Amino acid sequence: MCLITVGCGPMDKGNSEAVKKEMEDRKVKHVLPSQITDKAKERGLAITDAAQKVLLQTLIKKIESEGILGAVEYCNLNAFPLVDSLSKANHATIRRVSNKWRNPKDAPIADEIAIMEAYTYSVEQGQAPREEVFMEDNSTQVVYTRPIMMGAALCLQCHGTPGKELTQEVADKIKGLYPEDKATGYELGEWRGIWKVVFEKKDLVLEL
Ligand code: HEC
Repeated sequence: MCLITVGCGPMDKGNSEAVKKEMEDRKVKHVLPSQITDKAKERGLAITDAAQKVLLQTLIKKIESEGILGAVEYCNLNAFPLVDSLSKANHATIRRVSNKWRNPKDAPIADEIAIMEAYTYSVEQGQAPREEVFMEDNSTQVVYTRPIMMGAALCLQCHGTPGKELTQEVADKIKGLYPEDKATGYELGEWRGIWKVVFEKKDLVLEL
């Protein structure tokens, strides 16, 4: 205990300051669970906003310079590296998950299956999907999720209906790169999937 130091003879000012600091440093932070979930929401929203912006800006630039076909190839090569670099920069694990996925790596796994079922249920009930935070007492991690919507007509050029918004040429290119593709036939405004950000609980506590 810090008090032992206090008991060691007369203290000059410097010494008592040091003791005070030591006690401050060791003080246990009293943090409410709601403060952690609020922090996860704040950080999750900021990170996914940034990720979404980077992906969209890059996509638009590529479509302008190389057309839709070139952009498909670009997404194929770069969507994961772009998101991974944001994960590193933010000391969190960021990924996209979809029930009707294009890249099989975006299919739901483990705890994501239940999360996606809950989202699917609320969408089927006609509710707008919302952001969520999942935190369990015995876990060292906190999970933030946020819906991804087919928010722009642009999205349909690669995720819409083949022969309609999606030209046959683009549909063929996509099939070539993703033989198991399930991510077509979407409509404007439809729920597409989620962003999932996993934080270490202790990192969030440190920020409080
Ligand atoms: C130029 C074609 C193109 C456009 C336009 C496009 N996407 Fe995609 N999208 C792709 C490709 C290719 C992938 C697979 C990337 C990969 O391999 O990681 C993908 C993957 C995704 C994923 C990850 C889940 C999955 O299915 O693998 C989401 C979510 C997504 N797109 C949403 C959107 C949204 C929302 C828009 C509109 C803002 C959009 N896309 C516009 C080509 C496109």
